[in-house]
Amino acid sequence: VAADGTRVFTLDAREGSSQFLDDATTATWGFNGDFLGPTLRAERGEQVAVEVTNSLPEATSVHWHGMHLPATMDGGPHQSVEPGQTWRAEWTINQPGATLWYHPHPHGRTEQHVYKGLAGLFLLDDGETEAAGLPSAYGVDDIPVIVQDKSFDDGELTIDDGGNEVGLLGSTIMVNGTIGAVLDVTTEIVRLRILNGSTARTYSFGFDDRSFTLVATDGGLLRAPVELDRIRLSPAERAEILVRMEPGTETMLHSFKPELGRVVVPFAVGGNDEFDVLRLRAADSLTPSAEPAAAFTEFGLDAETATTTRTFQLQDREINGQRMDLGRIDESVYVDTTEIWEVRNQDLSPHNFHVHDVQFEIVDIDGDAPPPELAGRKDTIYTEPQRTYRLVMRFEEYTDPAMPYMFHCHLLRHEDEGLMGQFVVL
Ligand code: C2O
Ligand code: CU
Repeated sequence: VAADGTRVFTLDAREGSSQFLDDATTATWGFNGDFLGPTLRAERGEQVAVEVTNSLPEATSVHWHGMHLPATMDGGPHQSVEPGQTWRAEWTINQPGATLWYHPHPHGRTEQHVYKGLAGLFLLDDGETEAAGLPSAYGVDDIPVIVQDKSFDDGELTIDDGGNEVGLLGSTIMVNGTIGAVLDVTTEIVRLRILNGSTARTYSFGFDDRSFTLVATDGGLLRAPVELDRIRLSPAERAEILVRMEPGTETMLHSFKPELGRVVVPFAVGGNDEFDVLRLRAADSLTPSAEPAAAFTEFGLDAETATTTRTFQLQDREINGQRMDLGRIDESVYVDTTEIWEVRNQDLSPHNFHVHDVQFEIVDIDGDAPPPELAGRKDTIYTEPQRTYRLVMRFEEYTDPAMPYMFHCHLLRHEDEGLMGQFVVL
């Protein structure tokens, strides 16, 4: 913390080498280390600054995914950091407590940079997350779970540029950079903050032998805890879940075959894949855990107050028939207004949709109210083929006629190939 109270972080994006498999090291990228990056953490109301140094051999950028901040601080493709340069982003945290993350966003190169290892969590706290009664000892009963799929060839991390309709689907699952990850649980309830940090794969997380309690999604707490058997997460989505353990027992967090919707060839886009993700191994005696609160928080944007409806057709690598152009502003919105964004996946293969700067709510999906796991504050949603998602969002605080924010598919190859657009807040 600097003298003026600013909480200052430093991130150095650099080349490294990692040993994921026995007897083999492989080239990787990381922030301040060889692979992935440190968990950053701040409280609502705090002024934060991040000094990002690029020690890589090529330009990159660092985007604060899910964060409400000025467009010049967003870390998108317009905030490119050249090799050897340092970029300072500074803003005030003004949004609910949540599990956010950060990752590079260089134009056309995002898949490569994230895949090689550049990503980390950015946790926000506030009074409501404290009052929710959730396990909160980081690394003890509050556990980051960054899930990524990778490909290896002779121990070498490989990126298959051919890929398929969604991008790269690896057959090796990592949690926080570890293959075959095991968590030693010492408390009756453990909170997993799951991030789908994969470039293309959609998962359906759950257990064979128990349900779990979903407490938060992308933008923070749900209104109340929800009991579930499965949660589907497409790239960049987050879910905070509570898992109850009995002393001396084990269970496995799996990824089951994900429901991808009306896709033409499910097996070609990961629809038939199942994985063990994280083994939970409880100690012979467990520290008692408090039960979470019965209700967490109130929120809700009123779709009736929306002044504008915009439509976004996702098809192939285009939105509304256009590929991303850094020099073109696709949408201009006004500050202090509420809008409906109607997003439709026109293809018969997966896409998802992410909007910078805001957390939105799903009004309806083909006219139906969203299921409880999609009823919270979101910045990224899976878009099933041939369905229409109506999202309500409100633009607040920051305006900049010259610097846009992005909206895009977070299947990173799609994003890199043009499934992205730009909006300014006036
Ligand atoms: Cu997580 Cu525009 O990105
Ligand atoms: Cu896509």
